[in-house]
This record gives sequence, structure tokens and C-alpha cells, in this order.
Amino acid sequence: MSWNADLYKNNFAFVHQYGSSLIEWLQPQAGEKILDLGCGTGELTATLADSGAQLTGLDSSATMIESARRNYSQLEFVVANAASFSLPVQFDAVFSNAALHWMQEKEQVAARMYQHLKPGGRLVLEMGAKGNVEAMLQALERSMQQHGYQYRPRWYFPSLGEYTTILEKYGFRIHQAYCFDRLTELANPENGIIEWFDMFGDYFFENIPADDRLSILRQTQEALRPSCYREGKWYADYVRLRIAAVKH
Ligand code: BEZ
Repeated sequence: MSWNADLYKNNFAFVHQYGSSLIEWLQPQAGEKILDLGCGTGELTATLADSGAQLTGLDSSATMIESARRNYSQLEFVVANAASFSLPVQFDAVFSNAALHWMQEKEQVAARMYQHLKPGGRLVLEMGAKGNVEAMLQALERSMQQHGYQYRPRWYFPSLGEYTTILEKYGFRIHQAYCFDRLTELANPENGIIEWFDMFGDYFFENIPADDRLSILRQTQEALRPSCYREGKWYADYVRLRIAAVKH
């Protein structure tokens, strides 16, 4: 999938702003080697590096990594697939914010994360949980059907039990796991929902003409007005999963 790195940086800064509080779960230390898995445009990688830790940012999107390298040339960034990457390092910690729900090969990803940690190494992650953006996806599905198109699910939003079970299967010991709602304000007050799907939802519109895409998205947004629009602002119905685990 191709990414609009500029739109991401300008109107989706909340992704890394919320991620800052996840750093408190990690408590990065100077001198540690830390892998930021699914680092996107590298903002959180740079914040993590402020601790004095040695960061490697990894993402499958060449566009995102190109932007990260441009902005944070002092840091190391790698274009690689989280389900198959192999780096010649074992890390003190793996950190991942808002990335793992893109990865359908969840077992391979868990195995790769485990493999790249030192014994006792920490894993701290946040991702979309079961129920994440559910109202938005239901409205999209209805609108696609009404326009004569088939809706195909895209993301992996596991329950707390499901994801901790996968991590335990690959050898992690869970220290903290937490699932919570986070109604998330979108930057564009007129077309926040349309812009969210423009940013993240290209997959749903492969082979759909641009006119139909726009009509589907307008209908989706209007259907969400009663539940996702308040006092002049659009909100996404995010549900988050946060986990801290160690390599046992
Ligand atoms: C999320 O952070 O929950 C998310 C972001 C993009 C697509 C799907 C989910």
C-alpha cells in the first residue's frame, strides 16, 4: 500500500502524540538498543532516542521510511516486513505503536519480535483492539453494499485474550495488558471521516471508480454524523490494546 506521508504528518499527528504516553510504559534507558516496529515517519522513534537509547526504526513502507530518514538522519531506519525481518542485532526492547493491526501474519510477527529480543528484553505495544473503528467500518460496509460493492475486512483487531495468548505461545510473559476506549478527535472538522479513509482505507477502494469512492465516503460520513460528530468535530471510535511483556 502507498502512503501519503505529508497528510499523515499534518493531520494524523495524534497517532504519535498518543504514542508518547506509551513510552512511559517502556521507560527507555540510555545505551539500550530499541527496535521501533512499524515506525511510520519516525516521530516516536526520535522521541525514544531522546532518552539516549540507540534506535532502529522499521517499517514496510518505503515512502514512510524515506520521510523518516529525511527528518531524522541521525537515526537508523530499515524498510522491512515485520513478519519476516531479520536483523543482526538482539534488542533490549521492542516498541510498537499503532502498527500491529496492519499485520495479518500475527504469529510470524510475534515470533520475529521474540527472536530479536535479548533474554529478559521488553515488548511494549499499542494497537487497535477488538471493536476498534467498528461504527466506521459498519457504516462503510453498508454504504459499499448500497453502491453494489463488496466490503472486505482489512485489519486485525484482536481481543486482549487473543493477543496475549499469541504472545504467550511464542514465549512472552505478560506484565500488563489493558484494553480501553479512546474516542479520537480527527483534525479535519468538515470531512474528518472521509479524510481518515483517504489516509488509511485505500484498500477498500481498489478497482472502484473515483466518483463512486467519493459517493460511498460521503454517505459513510453522513451515516456517522449522529454518533461521531460533536460540537463541530469528528471523532473516530478507537478501542486500544496496550501490552507490556518480557522475553521469558
Ligand atoms: C488505529 O490506529 O487504530 C488504526 C489506524 C489506521 C487504520 C486502522 C486502525
